[in-house]
Amino acid sequence: MAKMWAGVTGGETAGIADDFNSSIKFDSRMAKQDIRGSMAHAMMLAHAGIITQAESELIIDGLESILEDLESGKLAIDETSEDIHMFVEQELTGRIGDAGKKLHTARSRNDQVALDLRLYLLDESEEILAKIKNLISAVVGKAEEYKSAIMPGYTHLQRAQPVTFGHHLMAYAMMLLRDTERIKECKKRINVSPIGCCALAGTAYDTDRRFEAEELGFGGICLNSIDGVSDRDFAAELLSDIAILMMHLSRFAEEIVLWSSWEFGFISISDLFITGSSIMPQKKNPDMAELVRGKTGRAYGDLFALLTVLKGLPLAYNKDMQEDKESVFDACDTAKACLDVFAGMICGMTAKTENMRKAAETGFINATDLADYLVGKGLPFRDAYKTAGRIVAECMKTGKVLETFALDDYKAFCPKIEEDVFEAVDLDACVTRRKSEGGTSVGSVEAQIAFVKSVILQ
Ligand code: ARG
Repeated sequence: MAKMWAGVTGGETAGIADDFNSSIKFDSRMAKQDIRGSMAHAMMLAHAGIITQAESELIIDGLESILEDLESGKLAIDETSEDIHMFVEQELTGRIGDAGKKLHTARSRNDQVALDLRLYLLDESEEILAKIKNLISAVVGKAEEYKSAIMPGYTHLQRAQPVTFGHHLMAYAMMLLRDTERIKECKKRINVSPIGCCALAGTAYDTDRRFEAEELGFGGICLNSIDGVSDRDFAAELLSDIAILMMHLSRFAEEIVLWSSWEFGFISISDLFITGSSIMPQKKNPDMAELVRGKTGRAYGDLFALLTVLKGLPLAYNKDMQEDKESVFDACDTAKACLDVFAGMICGMTAKTENMRKAAETGFINATDLADYLVGKGLPFRDAYKTAGRIVAECMKTGKVLETFALDDYKAFCPKIEEDVFEAVDLDACVTRRKSEGGTSVGSVEAQIAFVKSVILQ
């Protein structure tokens, strides 16, 4: 069939070229946005006196009926169309006749596709934000439940200092809060209208770009028409934000995998979010967490695919840019699916607080507190650190921990040590003492929870 763009050529192309050129299989996802954009365009054309009010209304009614029929399933996308923009326009003209042919006045597919992608990503980023918020609520809920459950905090995956599980969980809430801020910030740059930039140079028609942008709810318009049709920064930025979000989720996922292992035994994941093995009847596998960790690679790949497509492209539009969409769609789908499953998994997670406590009781995670105690007795920190180290080494040799080391044995290392050393190395006291803002004391964790709640409830 001859193409809508048949002009200098007859529009006859090889079937294999048509298939290769077509983006309808993936860009039909933007049908709703494409129709919304076209409705606003028809309104602007009438407002500017480029088409009549009657023509504009005919176009808008036609577009509305197409949207309804697509949503109800009455109208199927014609997969032989070149892209979603051509499909909608063809369908419109089929329904309303000549007025349909006027819709594409003072625009091009170049600004149209940029518009659709921006509208699509505004919708997607709203959804992603809502899902992050849902996950933050789940994390905060668990942090509240376990705000005084003591566990070892780690550095280098070695037991380091006592913290509470609630405190550890709140670290993730803070990361997710920053992810929220980043996406909100990115939305400001997505929220700029490219429509009216036309093919690249703007238009000689007396259009009103600001009217059309306002109609669509945009905060402003792209101020350079060449940039407006060439810019995909907003998509690269959202995909970077998603990559960072996924990096956070993958760290969390990794800890869930570790914590749920027999070796750690810190948590159990609800049966609703684990899988069994096909041959080992005892297995409870943390597949959801592993998949989130794995899909992080995919989200990074999407970002790199997009950046690579854009790299070195001359201005303005190039067909390479059609390749932007699948990465963008995939990254958004991946993030949304991971956020949903993560929130479910966190809600159903229970902490084995006794095991956490037991792990905290070994590994000398109160050694820093012993050193601080010695500083309190007048030793310079470096000397206190060495003495505490020697005491720990002795405990290791004799199979003791700081809580069971005899006072006389302590005194042999430093005569200034008194009975109050046992209060210094008591795990609960170690946590309670860390009252510094952002620290692990229960009061501090409560303050963190209150802060995060106040921000997400805004
Ligand atoms: N399907 C195209 C895309 O996704 C739409 C823009 C086509 N523009 C053009 N000049 N061929 O990028």
